[in-house]
Amino acid sequence: MRDPKRVAIFISGRGSNMRSLIEQANGYSVVLVASNKPHAEGLIWARDRGVQTWALESKGIGKEEYDRLLSSELDHLQVGTIALAGFMRILSPWFVDQWRGRILNIHPSLLHKYRGLDTHARAIEAGDLVGGCSVHIVTEELDAGQVLGQAEVRIDPKDTAASLEQRVLAAEHRLYPKVLSEFVSR
Ligand code: GRF
Repeated sequence: MRDPKRVAIFISGRGSNMRSLIEQANGYSVVLVASNKPHAEGLIWARDRGVQTWALESKGIGKEEYDRLLSSELDHLQVGTIALAGFMRILSPWFVDQWRGRILNIHPSLLHKYRGLDTHARAIEAGDLVGGCSVHIVTEELDAGQVLGQAEVRIDPKDTAASLEQRVLAAEHRLYPKVLSEFVSR
């Protein structure tokens, strides 16, 4: 039985959003942190706090084969909600279909502006006065699913992509736990 309040977080790197989802957990429990990068920095933090982890290098394994292994691990733990947090791997259509409507992602732009990468540089380049981040439902199309929540961050004329990224990241850390908490209790 999939329980919406049992959450798995998928990461590929440092996992700062993962940390805020775990530290600010309200109405849900993080029962697994999974990674396609066995050396992802965030895995160490999770293990140190006693959170179960699952890590398997995705290179060299068929996309769907990999996703079937991951999916059975989630079912084994009765996960009902998945939160992608800096997970740099595109999920197979099979996986998205299996977990339709149950996968969330955090993206560093005000969607549906700036899907994909280099969002901050693109916002500055376009002369935008406001940037931000969005939590959205994952569908087969990259960064295109329903937006569940957003936070705006003012863009300063002196901002570089790096300085803007820093402020948006701080906003992500407040937004994601709040949206996830609302999502699992609706
Ligand atoms: C964040 O900027 C997030 O919006 C994007 O990837 C980055 C992940 O950072 N999807 P972290 O691993 O959570 O620190």
